[in-house]
Amino acid sequence: MIKTIKEGSARLYVPNVNKPEQGRREGFYNPAMTKNRDISVACLAVLFKVSKKRAKNRMRICDALTATGVRAIRYKKEVGGEVWACDVNENAIKLARKNAYLNKTKINFVNKDANAFLSENGFDFVDIDPYGSPVGFIAAAGHSLGRKGYLAVTATDTAALNGVYPRVAERRYGIRSVRCFYSKELGTRILITSIIRILMQQDKAFQPLLCFQDRHYIRIFGSVLRGAKKCDVLLDKMKYIVADKDSWEIREHPSEKSIGPIYIDTIQKKNFCMSVLKELKKRNLTGQNIVRLAAEELQEPFYYDTHFLSKKYKKPLVSLSKIIDTLSKRHKVSRTVFCPTAIKTDAGLEKILAAME
Ligand SMILES: C[S@@+](CC[C@H](N)C(=O)[O-])C[C@H]1O[C@@H](n2cnc3c(N)ncnc32)[C@H](O)[C@@H]1O
Repeated sequence: MIKTIKEGSARLYVPNVNKPEQGRREGFYNPAMTKNRDISVACLAVLFKVSKKRAKNRMRICDALTATGVRAIRYKKEVGGEVWACDVNENAIKLARKNAYLNKTKINFVNKDANAFLSENGFDFVDIDPYGSPVGFIAAAGHSLGRKGYLAVTATDTAALNGVYPRVAERRYGIRSVRCFYSKELGTRILITSIIRILMQQDKAFQPLLCFQDRHYIRIFGSVLRGAKKCDVLLDKMKYIVADKDSWEIREHPSEKSIGPIYIDTIQKKNFCMSVLKELKKRNLTGQNIVRLAAEELQEPFYYDTHFLSKKYKKPLVSLSKIIDTLSKRHKVSRTVFCPTAIKTDAGLEKILAAME
């Protein structure tokens, strides 16, 4: 059974099911991912504006795991370019074609394995939005992006990345995850490190532009640029972390208790995030709070969760704004996109605890 819904500028036929998983055979649609797609539309709009191929509407965009075609249709209608959509599921492609027709949009559909398709075709922007881990699609996306391009990646295996299943993370991403109060950022950086490493094998440097976790997924946008030297620069930004349940320490060299190496440099590019926020506002789309927090986030690795500190050190639960006010007199401090009760600061633990009095 099929029903009609509206998302962004698109009208869509989607499976009429109680839970998104029940519609996998016909064409998976998850309304909880609307915010992910809204932010993606705004990101693509920003990148489209600076693309040299914009004038001729020739920017090549690939929604590599399209399901109902919702992303591809929204990219085409709300941004532009030459949009391709791929899915291995024949039923999904049939439904996606109907959806493109319903929206009077021209999309190029392909019923194929995404890795095979990406390996044979070049794009400027590739979106990888799979079930679970994206890691198996990154190499093919890298080949597809040529000398320069942009990559958008979703991971829904957050239990592995955020430290619930450390061994699974070690298997899939090459780094053991840790369950700790800053695990959402640690998990995101493990995923980023894995993307960087895979693309480095092709002498391509991945630079994150905007990264966040929402609900049960991680979303990462970044640029991919060919160049061995650029990759070497990234190698220098990888360090070892002694990651405990309630503290972290960044080290140059490995030790028995350390994990890594993990990318510890900038993960939010302020100018890019500000431009995305502007697009979201202009288009009245969701996700503005996430992107604002990312834009304002201090580029220090890892955050302090004040609720965790309050419990551990028996401190009162002081409001975040008050702690930020106190610390900002002498230190750099910000909220973080990863946790609503946490701050990032260069002040150090003692001063944070003092600000919680
Ligand atoms: C999470 S859904 C995609 C959701 C969609 N991007 C959206 O925003 O609604 C994942 C899709 O990937 C497809 N898929 C899984 N493995 C694939 C592969 N190797 N190649 C192409 N498509 C694949 C599935 O059929 C499914 O439709």
